[in-house]
Amino acid sequence: MPLTLEHPSNAYATLIAQDMNHVDAVISKRLSSAVPLVGEVAKYIISAGGKRIRPALLLLISGALSYTHEDRFEIAAVIEFIHTATLLHDDVVDDSTLRRGRATANVSFGNPASVLVGDFLYSRAFQMMVDCGNMQVMEVLANATNVIAEGEVQQLMNLHNANLNQEDYLQVIRSKTAKLFEASARLPAIMAGCSPSMQQSCADFGVALGTAFQVIDDALDYEGESSLLGKNLGDDLREGKTTLPLIFAMQKADARERQLIKNAIEQDTEVELEPILQVIQHTGAMQATRAVAHDQALLAIEALNPMPDSVYKSALRELAAQLLIRTS
Ligand code: IPE
Ligand code: IPE
Ligand code: MG
Ligand code: MG
Repeated sequence: MPLTLEHPSNAYATLIAQDMNHVDAVISKRLSSAVPLVGEVAKYIISAGGKRIRPALLLLISGALSYTHEDRFEIAAVIEFIHTATLLHDDVVDDSTLRRGRATANVSFGNPASVLVGDFLYSRAFQMMVDCGNMQVMEVLANATNVIAEGEVQQLMNLHNANLNQEDYLQVIRSKTAKLFEASARLPAIMAGCSPSMQQSCADFGVALGTAFQVIDDALDYEGESSLLGKNLGDDLREGKTTLPLIFAMQKADARERQLIKNAIEQDTEVELEPILQVIQHTGAMQATRAVAHDQALLAIEALNPMPDSVYKSALRELAAQLLIRTS
């Protein structure tokens, strides 16, 4: 069953626009530091925007569960700080030069400042969650942060390995990306005091949504528009990352083309993107990749079944459908 949008594309954003202003206020307030370079680097990346999709997820689930305590703004900001810290570190590791439409922090301030300010944001996030004083919330976030780091290390170990399969790929993205989506969706259910089974349904929604989100991100790395995405295309191939478009292309290509892709993944020097793109296109690898994201979005929507109907639940459905057609 194809997913269709039930609302205009920004309906979910409108629903939580006011809540998001509160989250932004917490983010600004909590960025303060006596060391000027900390604020400078942190503001540089945060003021460039970002989609704020993880805080949006947390706020929408809060709405769907009628959880209205203002701790939700603090925890949404915590999630965005953790996300921002991973981006600062990720761009150093990936040697990326463009993020959110501007030069990455590693380009503008250097690798040491990016790594250290990433550490500042992680530890500020932990100070904030301690302030909330909920042991279960701290447990979820401590585990999520740890699993994200494991995912990034696993991905590092997988670089230049052309023999990875779909399961190897999914294992990495469940850790590096879906885990934080899972936490964003599970936390409001914990804070609202929901039953373990409702907590699990929310977590399942987050995992599937986050998986779909990263699969689409990996598709966009080949077929997106850099000016909309705010990132350079082709970063994954340049780094020797075997993402889903390449896995499907290798499965469906003939021996010569398979060797071409294999060589591109295995070599450490700059590779030509165009011939690889052609193989991706004529093998239908992009459609196959998008089909995986589509299935995950359907799984996410199914996970919402136990939730009472509300405008928030509809918006969560819309969010899942929307991210399949995202261009930024
Ligand atoms: C980028 O995340 C990292 C991935 C998991 C692909 P986002 O695409 O949510 O980044 P921003 O916050 O909107 O810039
Ligand atoms: C995102 O991974 C980083 C984390 C989720 C920790 P990617 O390297 O695939 O994301 P982009 O393309 O740089 O945003
Ligand atoms: Mg990256
Ligand atoms: Mg990417």
